[in-house]
Amino acid sequence: MQGNFKYYNPTKLYFGEDAMTHLVGELKNYGPVVMLSYGGGSIKRNGVYDAVVAALREAGKTVVEDAGVMPNPTYEKVMEGCARVRDNKVDLILAVGGGSTIDYAKAVSASAYCEEDAWEKYWVGQGWPTCRTVAVGAVLTMVGTGSEMNGGSVITNRKAGFKLGKVFGPELYPKFTILNPRFTMTVPQYQMVAGFFDIMSHLMEQYFAGTADCTTDYIIEGLMRSLVHSSRIAAKNPQDYEARANIMWTATWALNTLLKCGKGGDWEVHQIGHAIGLVTDAAHGMTLASVSLPYYRHMMRDGLHQFRRFAINVWGVRPEGKADEQVATEGLACLEQWMKEIGVVMHSRELGVSEENLEAVTDAVKILPVGYRTMTRDEVVDILRQSM
Ligand code: NZQ
Ligand code: ZN
Repeated sequence: MQGNFKYYNPTKLYFGEDAMTHLVGELKNYGPVVMLSYGGGSIKRNGVYDAVVAALREAGKTVVEDAGVMPNPTYEKVMEGCARVRDNKVDLILAVGGGSTIDYAKAVSASAYCEEDAWEKYWVGQGWPTCRTVAVGAVLTMVGTGSEMNGGSVITNRKAGFKLGKVFGPELYPKFTILNPRFTMTVPQYQMVAGFFDIMSHLMEQYFAGTADCTTDYIIEGLMRSLVHSSRIAAKNPQDYEARANIMWTATWALNTLLKCGKGGDWEVHQIGHAIGLVTDAAHGMTLASVSLPYYRHMMRDGLHQFRRFAINVWGVRPEGKADEQVATEGLACLEQWMKEIGVVMHSRELGVSEENLEAVTDAVKILPVGYRTMTRDEVVDILRQSM
């Protein structure tokens, strides 16, 4: 292990088919007014809404409805939520949904009482809240982002021309999250596998950085192997509880700050993915899937030892008698094969990227000085072209 770090994660998790039975008890820790934030209505169709409202009633809460959080939540919507929090003196924001709804809840929490321009302060300036914030709790219905146990809040601001992530500190992590794999069973196959790839991407973004012998890499390899195994089962039979439960747990650990301990991380695939998301509004996991292979093939020689290790330890590639580059290449071929097997989008043109909007996508890519190599704008253009 190298570097100095602090590890602290205060989110309390309730996992399993009985997880919801703990919601009433948790709600009792907060004041009387709860804002119930959710998306476009999936929770009304699958019964999760009714279960949550029953718990809120039993806990004697006044419920403020806050519907319509869209995938890739916008800053305009965040501002709407902020007004609702202030007008109703909300004590707890209960986010029921996927990463979009939970990210939105954190954004509202930090921005409702912010006296400055919250977009400039948090997402552009990467500043920290100095105002009062509102407690956030979550009931997760879609697996992938890890938002259930982290401070991430990715917001799209079309006026500013960016989709940007802010990672808030532990004070903005959900105070508690209900993780019932059954709640995710109604997620459409396309969204489900997008989530699976998002998890793999979080693991790869943290794995492909650094050269030290680091315990974190061994943890990541274990999580990758579990994900590959369970996702193969779930892609064929989405109702397989064991597989879906394993994947839910893997997703939570893939991005709850554990895996950055002793590691620098890369995160450029996410920057390119966010730019594609900004321009096309495509599902987050699919934006990552469409650019990952061109990106990693481009980077492979810069982090050859780690790509070789990935091939051997995650995919079982046999290294005997092979040059390092060949081993690493075979590992990425295994990744490609798995992606095809679970059925993710392999080309960004399927999401709407074209020569016409290539410039706009490239302009929106934030280039980070981390990972094995810092991209140039021309390299980003090359990767995007190859991804089409
Ligand atoms: O809006 P509803 O009707 O609920 O439908 C949603 C939405 O259309 C649907 N869905 C969710 N649960 C369902 C369901 N449909 C049926 N049954 C269920 N049980 O799925 C669709 C996608 O939901 P969304 O929340 O947008 O997906 P996801 O969880 O992938 O979140 C994506 C957002 O999270 C950000 C992404 O950039 C994107 O904006 N991320 C957040 C991160 C974080 N907080 O750390 C990190 C990630 O890398 C990511 O950037
Ligand atoms: Zn992601």
